[in-house]
Amino acid sequence: MNQRIKLGMVGGGQGAFIGAVHRIASRIDDRYELVAGAFSSNPEKSLASGKELGISTDRNYKDYLEMASKESERTDKIDAVAIVTPNHMHHPIAMAFIEKGFHIICDKPLAINLKECEELVKATKEKDIIFALTHNYTGYPMIRNAKAMCEQGDLGNIRVIQAEYAQDWLTEDIENKSESGGNKQAAWRTDPAQSGGGGCIGDIGTHAFNLVRFITSLQPQQLSAELTSFVSGRQLDDNAQISIRFNGGAKGSIWSSQVAIGNENHLMIRIYGEKGGLEWCQEDPNYLYFTKFGSPKQKITRGGAGALEAANDVTRIPPGHPEGYLEGFANIYTDVANALSDKLKNNYDATKYCFPTVEDGLEGIRFIERSIASSSSDSSWVNF
Ligand SMILES: NC(=O)c1ccc[n+]([C@@H]2O[C@H](COP(=O)([O-])OP(=O)(O)OC[C@H]3O[C@@H](n4cnc5c(N)ncnc54)[C@H](O)[C@@H]3O)[C@@H](O)[C@H]2O)c1
Repeated sequence: MNQRIKLGMVGGGQGAFIGAVHRIASRIDDRYELVAGAFSSNPEKSLASGKELGISTDRNYKDYLEMASKESERTDKIDAVAIVTPNHMHHPIAMAFIEKGFHIICDKPLAINLKECEELVKATKEKDIIFALTHNYTGYPMIRNAKAMCEQGDLGNIRVIQAEYAQDWLTEDIENKSESGGNKQAAWRTDPAQSGGGGCIGDIGTHAFNLVRFITSLQPQQLSAELTSFVSGRQLDDNAQISIRFNGGAKGSIWSSQVAIGNENHLMIRIYGEKGGLEWCQEDPNYLYFTKFGSPKQKITRGGAGALEAANDVTRIPPGHPEGYLEGFANIYTDVANALSDKLKNNYDATKYCFPTVEDGLEGIRFIERSIASSSSDSSWVNF
């Protein structure tokens, strides 16, 4: 059995959302052990969170700088750190740990501007760091299936791509409402200093964009975008509509919205080529629909007949028992675990792994910045 990877975490303290998801995902295949952390921007809350999680006192840190420094001096130091803070802290925290030679698992979006991304890409290369970005939807088996089908030519040349991620939780200004100063997750997501220049486009539009790139591998050439803040007084977009021209002639459209009433996490992608079409929706993720032109629509089930090896490789339980968000996240974690243990054994081969990287993160921020540039010049076409 492989030795468990010693994981540290920054962010994910009491009341936080995604840190707990990372902790669960890291344990699903039993490849990691959480041994250290600086869990909150508030030192007391950080220590209380670590205590609750069973972190030993000497590795339960008040802040991430102390953690990076003290961990680097230990013989049993962490192998990697998971960064699960709001966006504006990804860059400083990642740089502090890269500097000490630690591998990184960071949530999206990578940073708050392209300059920060370029610095992260450079530092990662210089220090020979594995940097995984948790665009978790790439971990779903039927997304792997869709990618494999595109690669083996089942769709023919791709013509049309429609991707959307719609939610409704920011329909009202919950960032300001309530006596306690508003919903904290909404507050940082709608604040340019913490979220970056993109609101909804950065928070969920980047997932849709990343899925398009992951499945089709098509390179964007130009885009035209319209970003809107429908809620009065909100500084960042809560709705984004983007048209994309891809190399090779395909046309794409990405819509992300956090004011689309009736939608919870409606991430959907549809891809149409000369020979066939694919459709997948995150709220029903165990099924992928494929239509070969002139034939009836096929429903391909995760783990069922017709599912490809790329999907079966990341499937745990039989068809009909749903797998979803946590398992998809775990597939990224396990892929990173394979990369980390290969690295430790001097057996690392970047072509073997499937997880999104720091370069994908840079592309996501470029997607945000180009979209903002287009939107602020009356949706003119801009080069990617
Ligand atoms: N991949 C996904 O599906 C997904 C889903 C939700 C959020 N996210 C991303 O995860 C990140 C966190 O989002 P969230 O919803 O969990 O936010 P959150 O507000 O619920 O939690 C953020 C946590 O980070 C801590 N934190 C802030 N600054 C810190 C610092 N300097 N040191 C240590 N801890 C610090 C906060 O105290 C809090 O515990 C964001 O980048 C977000 O875009 C990704």
